[in-house]
Amino acid sequence: MTHDTLAVPAPRDGAESSARWWRDAVIYQVYVRSFADSDGDGVGDLPGVRSRLPYLAALGVDALWLTPFYVSPMADFGYDVADYRDVDPLFGTLDDARALVADAHGHGLRVIVDVVPNHTSDRHAWFRAALAAEPGSPERARYVFRDGRGPDGAEPPNDWESVFGGPAWTRVPDGQWYLHLFAAEQPDLDWENPEVHAEFEGILKFWLDLGVDGFRIDVAHGMAKAPGLPDVGHPNQVEMLGTAVLPYFDQDPVHDIHRAWRRLLDTYDGERVAVAEAWAPTPERLAAYTRPDELHQAFNFHYLSAPWDAAEMRAVVDESLRTAAAVGAPATWVLSNHDVKRHVTRYGGGETGLARARAAALLTLALPGSAYVYQGEELGLPEVLDLPEEFLQDPQRLRGEGQGRDGCRVPLPWAGDEPPFGFGTGAATWLPIPPAWRSLTVAAQEADPDSMLALYRDALRVRREHPALGDGRLRWLDGPDDTLAFVRDAPGGGAVGCAVNMSGRTLRVPARGTPLLASGPVQIGDEGADLPPNTALWWEIEER
Ligand code: NOJ
Repeated sequence: MTHDTLAVPAPRDGAESSARWWRDAVIYQVYVRSFADSDGDGVGDLPGVRSRLPYLAALGVDALWLTPFYVSPMADFGYDVADYRDVDPLFGTLDDARALVADAHGHGLRVIVDVVPNHTSDRHAWFRAALAAEPGSPERARYVFRDGRGPDGAEPPNDWESVFGGPAWTRVPDGQWYLHLFAAEQPDLDWENPEVHAEFEGILKFWLDLGVDGFRIDVAHGMAKAPGLPDVGHPNQVEMLGTAVLPYFDQDPVHDIHRAWRRLLDTYDGERVAVAEAWAPTPERLAAYTRPDELHQAFNFHYLSAPWDAAEMRAVVDESLRTAAAVGAPATWVLSNHDVKRHVTRYGGGETGLARARAAALLTLALPGSAYVYQGEELGLPEVLDLPEEFLQDPQRLRGEGQGRDGCRVPLPWAGDEPPFGFGTGAATWLPIPPAWRSLTVAAQEADPDSMLALYRDALRVRREHPALGDGRLRWLDGPDDTLAFVRDAPGGGAVGCAVNMSGRTLRVPARGTPLLASGPVQIGDEGADLPPNTALWWEIEER
């Protein structure tokens, strides 16, 4: 399958765009279920998030992204929405959502909420109506129902596979099949149907009117399917995600939907934004989601997926900056989220993983653009790899695709010497917190100036205060192989340097100036800085 080259409209005007908060915002991802529990049921909730806003304000982030808290049977922990305009009782009420948004604004924090447009829950009123209605009815036309192939239509309509494993089709009693690119409890909507467009415009307006500052768009590369729903012609399609063009992802017409949403966002005051969760085969195609008349940002999963290797990391950074600049959008940087193994563990785990994660924090927060912080990364939490079998609940694993995502969703440890570490008032939590996390609690790290939390707070403060950091460009410096070194020039003079040693031995990097922050013990002299393995340094270069 081929794609036309996507047209690139002129970039936004530079001076105008620098005033836009989202171009260099640090956005903290709150996985609501695992952040803070106010009512002792072992599951995080909106009042819990509200009670911890002072922590987030003190951390120094600019905005929160709240994962779905809408009415849901929780087959995919809220990414299966049954009512987009109400809060699930597990997480609180609509008034709690209003109070949270208002309080966050009072703390100077913006709030982004998730919107899930590719699919609904199978308990959504529309899907119930579709099941009760006849094949060919208007109720079925909101979803992707088709007759099957083969004798008696007993074979799925095509060979598409669910991202969570197995066929992407489920048969209903009257013999038709419906499409679900994720779990069977998440039927795909048919975005060829104007009713679906109107419904989502209404949903976006509902939350914008309530005061949210924007949206994280789930599966923003879904929605539009290739005409005729052609076969892929290939098994193990999950391995092709993000690297190949599939007839159900990243289809050009999806951009029309994002353009319409941008027009809607622009009718509101206060720079309301949208960030795409989009998996595209190339950085160029990813950047297309952030053309000037589309969404503001897209998650940079190419950066998240890069190994701990200076040459590969530099290539990803260059490519990300180049493709974002071509459409006038800010680059974004993300190391972890609720769908992937936490990066302390990805980078090797133990002391090595932690040292690399500390260095990666300084690298990420020094790069030009906007950065995402997944809850708990500021505490250096590792993936929990040994959760007892009876707790494992992720539908991805249950449908047979991979180890599942439970291990990165374990509730946050706040304080105290034993689970639940102040997460809530009840003894049990929906996933157990490892007793070994007693040294990783917020309270323990607040008392330790060398903790990961202290590093994040310091880095976010310097980033906020120093005009060289945030939006802008970078200049690479020459340094030894296995290192990255670059300078961020401030618009009015002065600069900040950042160097990272990604090797296993101490290396000298060309850092000349006043040290600002380091992720480990660094020796600085007139000839540069000696960086130990897996260590990063920020230094200040005075205006000459
Ligand atoms: C991406 C979300 O981040 C993930 O958690 C979810 O399972 C899928 N989209 C399906 O909605």
